[in-house]
Amino acid sequence: MAHVAVTGGAGFIGSNLVAALAKRGHSIVVVDDLSTGLASNVNPAISEFHEISIVDRHALSKAIGSAEVIFHLGARGSVPRSIKNPVATHDVNATGTLNVLEVARQSGAHVVYSSSSSVYGRNGVLPKDETMWLGPMTPYAASKLAAEGYVQAYGSAYNVPTTLLRFFNVFGPRQRPDHEYAAVLPKWIWKAMQGEPIEVYGDGSQSRDFTYVQTVIDVCLDAMDHRVTHDGAINLAYGNRITLNDTIAMLKKHFPNLQVKYVPIRPGDVKESQNSPGLLKKLFPNVTPKEFESALSETVQWLKADGQSVANGPSSID
Ligand SMILES: NC(=O)c1ccc[n+]([C@@H]2O[C@H](COP(=O)([O-])OP(=O)(O)OC[C@H]3O[C@@H](n4cnc5c(N)ncnc54)[C@H](O)[C@@H]3O)[C@@H](O)[C@H]2O)c1
Repeated sequence: MAHVAVTGGAGFIGSNLVAALAKRGHSIVVVDDLSTGLASNVNPAISEFHEISIVDRHALSKAIGSAEVIFHLGARGSVPRSIKNPVATHDVNATGTLNVLEVARQSGAHVVYSSSSSVYGRNGVLPKDETMWLGPMTPYAASKLAAEGYVQAYGSAYNVPTTLLRFFNVFGPRQRPDHEYAAVLPKWIWKAMQGEPIEVYGDGSQSRDFTYVQTVIDVCLDAMDHRVTHDGAINLAYGNRITLNDTIAMLKKHFPNLQVKYVPIRPGDVKESQNSPGLLKKLFPNVTPKEFESALSETVQWLKADGQSVANGPSSID
C-alpha cells in the first residue's frame, strides 16, 4: 500500500483513477478546487479531500507533502476556455505544475504528469511520435508545454522521478456531458439521449486518437507500480485515427434517429490527431487498450444509467 496524491481528483480522469487506487487499497489524498470537478465525485470513505487550488503552494504542500506518488491531473482544461482567459490557464497549468514539482522536490515523490497531444498543434505530420517538433496553437497547449518543460527540468536538475504522459482525447464514464466546454463524445451522447441534434464543427472528417479512460488509468497504475520513468514525454494513445463521422455512424447504432448539424469550425481546433504508440507499448507492455467501439458502447450505457451523477454541475464555467 502506498500513500498517493491525486490533483484534480474530483474531475473526470482523476475520479476514475481514485476509484482504481482505492480498489487496490492505497491511501489517497485528493486536491481539487472543484472548478470543473464535482463534489459528488469525491468519496470521503476512500480518500482524504482538500478543496484547495494548486496555485496555493503552501496549502498544496501541506495537503500532499507526505505522498510517495503524485498523479498531477489538476488543470484548467479546454482550448476555447484558454483562448478566453490565457492568464488564468497559465497560472493553473504552468505555475500550478511548478508548485506540484516543488512539493516533490522536497518530499522525493514520484510525479506522474498529464500533458496533452495539443502541444503538437501546428505540426500536421501523422502519426505523431515523441521526437517531433511541437507548435502549440492555443494558450492551453502552451501552458501544458510549459509544464512539460518544468517536469523535465525537475527530473534533470533535482532528480525528481517523473513520468510525463501526453493524453490524446480521453473519454469514458464520469466525463461531464453538459457544460459549455464539454468534450465532444459525452456532449453528443447526452444530446442524443435527450433527442436533440448534435453539432459538428466542420465537415466531420477531422480525426482523433480517442483513448478510453480505463486504458489511461491502466497506464497510470503501471507507471506507479513499476516506477516507470523516462527522460522525455510518452504519448498515451494507441494509434486510432477515428473521424467524427465514423463516430456518428457508431452512435447511430444506439440512437437510430440521431440528427446531425454541421456548423463552421472553431479556432484552435486541430484537424487530425493520431499517435504512433511504439514508445508507449515498449514502456507499458502489460497494458492492453480497450477497442474504440466497445468502449464507446460502454460509455453510452454508463451515461444512460448514471449520467445524471455528473450532469449536476454548473453549465457555465468561467
Ligand atoms: N480529457 C482529455 O481528453 C485530456 C486530454 C489531454 C490532457 N488531459 C489532461 O488530463 C488532466 C485531467 O483532465 P480531465 O479530462 O479529467 O479534466 P477535468 O476538468 O474533469 O479535471 C481537471 C480537474 O482539475 C481541477 N482543477 C482545475 N483547476 C484547479 C486548481 N487550480 N486547483 C485544483 N484543482 C483544479 C478541476 O476542478 C477538475 O476536477 C488535465 O491535466 C488535462 O489537461 C485531458
